[in-house]
Amino acid sequence: MSQSNQRTYNFNAGPSALPLEVLEKAQLELVNFQGSGMSIMEMSHRSETYEEIHNEAISLLRKLFAIPNDYEVLFLQGGASLQFTMIPMNFLQIDKKASYIMTGVWSEKAYKEAKLFGEPVVNASTKENQYRNIPSLEDIHIDLDDTYVHITSNNTIYGTQWTEFPDTGEVPLIADMSSDIMSKPLDVSKFDMIYAGAQKNLGPSGVTVVIARKEFLAKANTDIPTILKYSTHADSNSLYNTPPTFGIYMLGEVLKWIEKNGGLTAIAKQNEEKANLIYDVIDNSKDFYTGHASKESRSLMNITFRVTDEELEKQFLSEAKEAGFIGLTGHRSVGGCRASTYNSVPLDTCNALSEFMIAFQTKHQ
Ligand SMILES: Cc1ncc(COP(=O)(O)O)c(C=O)c1O
Repeated sequence: MSQSNQRTYNFNAGPSALPLEVLEKAQLELVNFQGSGMSIMEMSHRSETYEEIHNEAISLLRKLFAIPNDYEVLFLQGGASLQFTMIPMNFLQIDKKASYIMTGVWSEKAYKEAKLFGEPVVNASTKENQYRNIPSLEDIHIDLDDTYVHITSNNTIYGTQWTEFPDTGEVPLIADMSSDIMSKPLDVSKFDMIYAGAQKNLGPSGVTVVIARKEFLAKANTDIPTILKYSTHADSNSLYNTPPTFGIYMLGEVLKWIEKNGGLTAIAKQNEEKANLIYDVIDNSKDFYTGHASKESRSLMNITFRVTDEELEKQFLSEAKEAGFIGLTGHRSVGGCRASTYNSVPLDTCNALSEFMIAFQTKHQ
């Protein structure tokens, strides 16, 4: 029995909406997973049943994201934030450099951690412009001494997204893709490492996906704690210690849903359609609504905007809440409004928001 009529319009930035049919299937399987007499949460991570779920999630990720064979796919814990630390801990040393391209608070946090292990350098930054845009590729200079170049592919807080990536040549490129992983097809081979917390596009919080070229992982430092070495997890198929089993099951179910919906090409088309519904309202509003991000850097995942004056903006957020729209308040560091339209946010939900925005403008301008 579907509970769709009790669902809100969920625009949360993360954790965020999950496909209703995935939630309903999980509910059906919650107490007695496929006749096993127990929940996945009660099952050994060494059991055949769990290993099947685990391996299926990895192979679906490989298939849907077209991940080359010379890459590892890891399920870790600690969120993307632990990756900010693990990357420099594994690859930097006190006198080694790495380039960080600053496109927001999450890049700043990654850079800060790298300072503990080596010599990160700010390669390009759009901070002066309140992170309204992605730097142009000409402003990024690749230094062959760099151990790696780090970027944030989608900036959740500001609503900006890279559409073209820098060609870093021999220097490994690492991307935090927490808020746009698998939102569109991607040439994974351009990156030596991609990482993302699952809780926006791929499933519930608690699972961090790391995709990394094996050759790059082989260059890691060895004098670090066992659990913080990528090789520990690669050598044990991400089963070195107890993984977040239920989260990985959910991630696998979200991947099955993506596959059923036509894979990443179809998902990308839907994401564009959804975001454009809202951007069109902003662009046709004669500045009643104004976008935070520069048009050429706009994200298809997080749409950031302001309402013409502050009082009206408060009223917009409060009326939206009353009408069942959740998660529209912008991040505290930029204020305003933000609609996150990740993979699992339905087209109807975006349509409802665009209609609400038009009606609100008509009533108040
Ligand atoms: C782009 C980006 N990177 C990193 C993080 C931090 O992720 P986590 O909470 O999984 O550590 C976030 C969280 O929203 C994010 O949006």
